[in-house]
Amino acid sequence: MDVVHDIATLRAAQNGQRHRRTGLVPTMGNLHAGHLALVRACRGACDICVVSIFVNPTQFGPSEDFANYPRTLDDDLRLLEAEGTDLVFNPTVDTMYPDGQEGHVRVRVPSLAQTLCGEARPGHFDGVATVVAKLFNIVAPDEAFFGEKDWQQLTLIRTMARQLDMPLTVTGVPTVREPSGLAMSSRNNYLSHEERERAALINQILMQIKAAIERGDRAYADAEARGRRVLAAAGFEVDYVAVRDANRLVPPDADANTLRILAAARLGRARLIDNVGVEL
Ligand code: PAJ
Repeated sequence: MDVVHDIATLRAAQNGQRHRRTGLVPTMGNLHAGHLALVRACRGACDICVVSIFVNPTQFGPSEDFANYPRTLDDDLRLLEAEGTDLVFNPTVDTMYPDGQEGHVRVRVPSLAQTLCGEARPGHFDGVATVVAKLFNIVAPDEAFFGEKDWQQLTLIRTMARQLDMPLTVTGVPTVREPSGLAMSSRNNYLSHEERERAALINQILMQIKAAIERGDRAYADAEARGRRVLAAAGFEVDYVAVRDANRLVPPDADANTLRILAAARLGRARLIDNVGVEL
């Protein structure tokens, strides 16, 4: 496994491999089983698996956890090596933003970047779209892999790639969960033992709403309000519980049949997100 920190060395390592199908798994490190499922999907579909590890400052708000985001490179490299990763791209902030962050081109995906998590985290998705566009240009993958856990991010990247005619396939990978149902996340490390148990409530509520919709209950606003109430009563600070059209993330038409139920809530020091799909 090659580990490279700058673009020229990355390109040199890729030289002569261009005829082979290259997959990219973008990450911010602190890897867990969710990330490794992406690596496995990449290995299954591609000849060469490139994983990027970069804690991207432009997607963190001023009061967010950029400085404290867990950085565990040695552990990450051990896990990636064991999964059969070919190449790890681990650039510095200066390598990614040589002209600084302020004056840098921003990629903005209208509406998708403003709704749901975009409301609580202004500018976050512009930072995500920008860094992912750069990673696509740097690595030039044939296929890139993203977790369904961050459904809004996956939708946004798909839209960006389609609208900007980026020559690659964006593939979504199902969410990996703890036995309790809690979606695995680096931010779960911020939870106490008791909070971690309580955090499973988010997925339980999403599954209850999914079951109600599958039974024919299309009173989405009532279900959302109920979900918010239950989470708030359990001590969560709720950003949203929302039933949306799965692809456009707008409130669904009465006859929409591909839905996504999404939630975001703070518990202790962690902001947790999760979502489940409904096919009618
Ligand atoms: P990060 O939070 O490190 O996540 C990297 C990838 O792993 C994302 O595609 C995310 O959806 C996926 N992932 C995280 N937890 C998962 C789980 N429990 N099951 C399945 N997939 C999971 O998302 C980012 O980094 C950044 O925004 C990034 C795309 C790298 C841009 O900076």
